[in-house]
Amino acid sequence: MSIKTDIAHAGRLISEGGVVAFPTETVYGLGADAFNPKAVARVFEIKERPSFDPLIVHISNLAQLDELWLQKDERLLQLAEKFWPGPLTIVVEKHPSVPDIVTSGLPTVGIRMPGHPVALALIEAAGTPVAAPSANKFGRISPTNAEHVRSQLPEADFILNGGTTTVGIESTVISLGKNGFTLLRPGAVTIAEITEVLPRVFETEKGSEKHSPGHMLSHYSPRKPIYFTTDAPAGTDISLAGLISFGAPLDASKYKLVEVLSAKKDMKEAAVNLFGAMHRMEAAGVAVMLVEPLPEEGIGIAIMDRLRKATFQYKPQ
Ligand code: TXA
Ligand code: MG
Repeated sequence: MSIKTDIAHAGRLISEGGVVAFPTETVYGLGADAFNPKAVARVFEIKERPSFDPLIVHISNLAQLDELWLQKDERLLQLAEKFWPGPLTIVVEKHPSVPDIVTSGLPTVGIRMPGHPVALALIEAAGTPVAAPSANKFGRISPTNAEHVRSQLPEADFILNGGTTTVGIESTVISLGKNGFTLLRPGAVTIAEITEVLPRVFETEKGSEKHSPGHMLSHYSPRKPIYFTTDAPAGTDISLAGLISFGAPLDASKYKLVEVLSAKKDMKEAAVNLFGAMHRMEAAGVAVMLVEPLPEEGIGIAIMDRLRKATFQYKPQ
């Protein structure tokens, strides 16, 4: 089947209440009609996601905002102008018609227009905004290609294959308050870029932050222990270990497997390769993964956020 036929098929499935995995520029999503609570419930079920963790609603045009937001917010439109389609999710007060299951009962909804032609065409074909979390089992490594989805979520009604994602790390999630934006999850759009449009504030608003994965300590976890190289427990046998290295390592031959995130130490390239490297390490059956910390600037902030969560439960005693 051609990608066009696939998109039409996937769009029809969503409009009929099905659950479809699809590519975005960040990671693959597991989508359902945002206005069909039963379909959205299946997304939670398939993903084994706790009901308190709200979904992002994906749109393909700004007219769809009217059925999602409580009232027009010029600031969102300014952000949209600069960052959409793209990896920025904006949380605003929700329209009463948005089902509670989508927002986990919160009075707010997270909205994003993904920067991927297949995702946009799918939403158009479905004829409805698409509620979608990342297409992985809850808490596990996010998928950056269709194969990652197939191995974790075979229960999806259809997997729309759009190749490997080009950003590789999830969207930045912000919430809009009276005085500016609050960061809920660092991501591909940097805080510095957003502050060019709107000031950042640090106040807690309506308690929504605690529902965000930015505030969960453990997430994005492989099934094998994973440590920062700086925290590796004494006695780790590195001949059985996998090394996830930022640049090219000097002692590569000492490890069972080495994944180089970016030989030229380009942070964006590292983000693209991060989850794929973790998936390959897991598939190769290394006993332990060691990962080099990256500089925390630009998208490096988001990469280190994901790595801290992945390594959280493996802090040495
Ligand atoms: O790049 C992405 O954002 C990908 C692609 C598929 O769009 N999606 C993604 O979804 O990463 P997910 O569900 O894995 O993470 C989105 C997070 C949720 O865990 C949730 O905590 C936060 O965004 N979020 C969504 N709606 C929210 C709301 N109303 N208030 C606070 N946080 C919200
Ligand atoms: Mg996720």
